[in-house]
Amino acid sequence: MHAIIQTGYGAPSRVLRLEEVDQPALDDDRVLVRVRASSVNSSDWRQVRAHPYIIRLTLGLRRPRDGHIGGDYAGVVEAVGAKVSNLAVGDEVFGARTGAYADYVAARMAVAKPANLSFEQAAALPVAATTALQAVRDKGAVRAGQRLLVNGAGGGVGHFAVQIAKAFGAEVTATTSTDKIGLVGSLGADHVIDYTREDFTRGTQRYEVIIDCAGNASLGATCRALSDGGRLIVVGAYRRPLTRLALGWLRRRLLRQPILFFLAQIRLEDLQTLKEMAEAGRLRPIIDRTFTLADVPAAIGYAERQTVAGKIVLTVPGQLAGGGPPNAP
Ligand SMILES: NC(=O)c1ccc[n+]([C@@H]2O[C@H](COP(=O)([O-])OP(=O)(O)OC[C@H]3O[C@@H](n4cnc5c(N)ncnc54)[C@H](OP(=O)(O)O)[C@@H]3O)[C@@H](O)[C@H]2O)c1
Repeated sequence: MHAIIQTGYGAPSRVLRLEEVDQPALDDDRVLVRVRASSVNSSDWRQVRAHPYIIRLTLGLRRPRDGHIGGDYAGVVEAVGAKVSNLAVGDEVFGARTGAYADYVAARMAVAKPANLSFEQAAALPVAATTALQAVRDKGAVRAGQRLLVNGAGGGVGHFAVQIAKAFGAEVTATTSTDKIGLVGSLGADHVIDYTREDFTRGTQRYEVIIDCAGNASLGATCRALSDGGRLIVVGAYRRPLTRLALGWLRRRLLRQPILFFLAQIRLEDLQTLKEMAEAGRLRPIIDRTFTLADVPAAIGYAERQTVAGKIVLTVPGQLAGGGPPNAP
């Protein structure tokens, strides 16, 4: 089969190759999925660039120990492990699995694809929408009627966070860059602020929950926009994420400020929740651009600009699939 393999760190066009590799082995608790679409997450370009540098400690110092890349997939089950009873050959599924930039993945995290979404739309969900769900529901503990602000609402995580917060009944203010004002308004935000022109931290409005995907204001200023008892959920920052993490930790410990960081965990039950929200018309992935598997270097190059409106999706065309029949369970 074909897969994108990362051979080092640096420019995507230099370190990413489309190669012929063995199909993944099918363990008893996995399903073999013929990938029809995948999507690009921030973690992908960070892995390619080894940015921040310290992630080499986990990935490999000079080159990644495991060259597979990609996390999100949607596709069709081609073989089922002996212990899997809830999925069958031919089922359309979506989920997350390292190495998803490939013709096939052997996945534990697989849930029936939302019936009303295409493979491309479903592939946009797993990592980014799970992050948004866990930020809004688990870390933000958002309740109906609360005022919530999503800072940086136009990107992968942000555009899902707006929709999920609305589904939980929050009054949502969304900040975004000028070009995405219309898009973010179309997601259902009650108020939209152009962060290039207006600084929400200087306004009089206070929020019970702030979900920060942009990180363009100081943590102190952002906390001042919280109401009493409010909380700031830091999802990420478009630059210097580690500095922000360290400063946030210090502020939380020394100043007792309500700053929460978290790393999203992919769980089957959350994928199921996303499926149900999509089928109920409460979650709609926005796709900025679509690339093919062979164009992953260009897709990663586009993603690292951090100006994407919603998500970048990869299609995995049928004619690329090869390597004979899938491994038997
Ligand atoms: N904690 C976790 O588990 C987790 C999971 C996934 C991602 N993340 C992190 O969350 C962040 C967003 O991820 P993503 O996948 O949504 O990335 P993305 O689609 O590339 O979105 C980029 C984000 O950065 C903002 N941004 C870009 N340029 C900016 C500028 N000049 N000033 C202020 N904001 C700017 C964008 O705001 P607009 O689009 O509104 O302009 C958008 O929110 C990244 O830092 C990523 O590493 C964390």
